[in-house]
Formats: sequence, structure tokens, C-alpha cells
Amino acid sequence: MEKEELDKILNRYARNPSQIIAILHEIQDAERYLPEPDLRYVANELKIPVSQIFHIATFYKAYSLKPKGKHICNVCMGTACHVRGAPLVLEELERKLGIKAGDTTEDREFSLSTVNCLGACALGPLVTIDGEYFGNMNTAKVEKMLEQVKAKGNGGEKPKEETEEAIAEVSSEKAEEKKHTGEKKAEPAEEKPKTKTPVRKKASDQKKKTSEPKPRAGKKGGKK
Ligand code: FES
Repeated sequence: MEKEELDKILNRYARNPSQIIAILHEIQDAERYLPEPDLRYVANELKIPVSQIFHIATFYKAYSLKPKGKHICNVCMGTACHVRGAPLVLEELERKLGIKAGDTTEDREFSLSTVNCLGACALGPLVTIDGEYFGNMNTAKVEKMLEQVKAKGNGGEKPKEETEEAIAEVSSEKAEEKKHTGEKKAEPAEEKPKTKTPVRKKASDQKKKTSEPKPRAGKKGGKK
């Protein structure tokens, strides 16, 4: 990034070192990654150690030190998606894009990565590209999905309601399926009869009993 551009960003935050997170976000948004020379320049201008900036840049997943693609493709590898075939979908994506998860294509069109549960398990196997949800994925759908994203160009984000509708649709389909298969509700476990547990006497009661004075025995063989 040009120095003037970096200065504009720094000035927007009054060159305040406590605003470093927001500053890095702006650079990441503009460049799609955090170039090392930019980080060194920012460290120098804000008078903070370069190591501190690198620590922040590598700590948060939102930042990347490697150039990112125009389209960010995430494959969910959470348990629900995994058991429904997510590894096969990932393999197909890696084959079609010619990269491994964590990498970016040479033309910087796609970045591929894996995530753990996107919170829409009912749609699994699930893939997101630029925030758009592609549910119930399989290897046959991969090519069409990539073509669709390329055709769109900007990979526009699907409105949230559409995703929620899709989740609701899948849930209602599942409920219907359950009804038809006559799946019974799990019966509650049989309640065990309660057994009386002997009540332990308090130690203090025991003590009390033993410390009670014994009645004196009458004199034996008294005077007649
Ligand atoms: S496991 Fe994939 S969305 Fe939850």
C-alpha cells in the first residue's frame, strides 16, 4: 500500500496506538492481507514494537499475512458436516481449484479454508463463499457452485433471512420425514422405586445417650 494511503488510515485514528486493531482491519480490507512493509511502517509511525503488531496479526483469524483471494471459500468440517461427507466435498474443491485448504489460487480468485461448525448443521455438508451458504453439498454440486460464484463476479452476500428460511425449510422437512416413518418419542426411563435409606443417628445423639447417667443399683445385702 502507498505511504499516503497508510497515512490517511493512521490519521483517521489520530495515530493512536490503542486503535491498532481497527487500523489493521482497514489495511486487511484494502489489501485482502497484511503486507509486511505496511506493518513495519505502522509500527514505526505509532512507536510500537514490530513484534507486538505481528503478535496481533497472527493471533486473530481475521488477519492474514498471506495474500487472500477475491472469494473466500470455507468448508465446514464440524462433526455434523463431517459425517455427511464434508471431507469428500473438500477434496473435490481442492482438486477443482488446484490448491490445498489454507491456500489461495495463483490468480488470487479463491482462498480455501476449513472451519469448525458454522451454526447451521441442518444444512450440512455446508460450504460458504463470501458469506453465501451452499447447503447439502456433494461432490457433484461443487463445479456448479464455483461457476455460479465466478459468474456473479463480486460473490455478493445472501441476505440473512434467506439463510434462515433455508434452515427452517430443512428442519420442517425433517419433522415431516419423522412423522411419516412413525418414529416414536423415546419413552421416559422407568422410575426406580425409592428405597428407604436408614437414617443415621447423629454422633452428638449417640454421645448424649452414652453420657446419660446410669441409674444407681440398690445396695445388695443391706441390714436386716
Ligand atoms: S457442523 Fe457444519 S454447520 Fe455445524
